[in-house]
Amino acid sequence: MKALVITSLSGPDALAVQNVPEPTIKAGQTLVRVAAGGLNFADFMTTKGGYPGTPAPPLIAGREFSGVEEGSGRRVMGYVQWGAFAEKAAAYSNMAWAVPDGWSDEQAAAFPVNYFTAYLGYWQAGMTQPAAAGKNHRVLIHAVAGGVGTAAVQIGRLLGVEMYGTSSSDEKLARVKELGLQHGINYKRHDYEEVVKNLTHGEGVDAVFEMLGGEHTAKSLRCLRDFGRVIQYGTATGRAPQLDVRALYAKSAMVQGLWLTYLSQKREIMEPAWQRLSAWIAEGKLAPQIGHVFPLERAVEAYRLLEEGKNYGKVVVRISG
Ligand SMILES: NC(=O)c1ccc[n+]([C@@H]2O[C@H](COP(=O)([O-])OP(=O)(O)OC[C@H]3O[C@@H](n4cnc5c(N)ncnc54)[C@H](OP(=O)(O)O)[C@@H]3O)[C@@H](O)[C@H]2O)c1
Repeated sequence: MKALVITSLSGPDALAVQNVPEPTIKAGQTLVRVAAGGLNFADFMTTKGGYPGTPAPPLIAGREFSGVEEGSGRRVMGYVQWGAFAEKAAAYSNMAWAVPDGWSDEQAAAFPVNYFTAYLGYWQAGMTQPAAAGKNHRVLIHAVAGGVGTAAVQIGRLLGVEMYGTSSSDEKLARVKELGLQHGINYKRHDYEEVVKNLTHGEGVDAVFEMLGGEHTAKSLRCLRDFGRVIQYGTATGRAPQLDVRALYAKSAMVQGLWLTYLSQKREIMEPAWQRLSAWIAEGKLAPQIGHVFPLERAVEAYRLLEEGKNYGKVVVRISG
């Protein structure tokens, strides 16, 4: 079968479409004929050896897919650790969900990672329950125009959260505002800490969805309201998060990690999340934002788009059909 192979850990240029053997199924797994793959920032990090737990190359790339389950003929979308960008992928059955009626392969491939991560961010921030009477939940979402970011805006709107979001581009922010983002902040032109402080009359936000790392962790902490929390779920800058734990005292704040790879193993967490998400989908309230679709042969360009931060919403790789 055809697959996108990471031939060495030297970045996207070391990706190559190659003929490889079909995967063998382990207990609890199902074989899927892949139609499309969802590209994640983690895939880019993996090409450089920057993602924890990645086996040595050669390795089939991709952690998210949509396609058809062999045998049952059921359309599924799912999440794996690697091996998704191939004509066939082996996936654990509990990590493969039925594709919602009317969704395209591209939409389905764009769903699992972004929507579960965003939902679990709100869950960890205590925002999947209504705010106390007379209060409202406020969140600051970094990379608001990206894959997780646009999912977080759609979910935040449904949860009634007041949202602040950062992006490098006014054009991207304008598109996210159409999804329900109330306060867009172009960080190239404005200091987001200042903007949040001004717009919230010095109070700050209840949570920051922080995936940048470096100085942004400390800066995001300064955007918090009393008892607020930074949900740390990535380091797109490539720099280790900076944090002086003493800074947490001032507002009884906290920094909490979120890693879907770990949480996805926990049925008691994933099932209620899926129930809530699938109910919204059935009501037509969630639809993945597909920014760009590339054929498998041009997958390197898709990776470059993420590396350069030029994507809007999700980048999808068409695998077959
Ligand atoms: N912990 C988890 O389980 C989990 C799950 C999913 C994703 N993540 C993390 O969440 C983040 C977003 O992932 P995604 O797949 O949805 O990607 P994405 O947001 O679609 O793309 C990355 C975006 O980040 C922004 N960005 C800011 N600084 C950047 C930099 N130094 N380099 C590149 N991009 C930068 C860019 O948007 P602007 O130019 O508009 O700022 C870019 O479009 C990543 O850090 C990823 O590792 C973590």
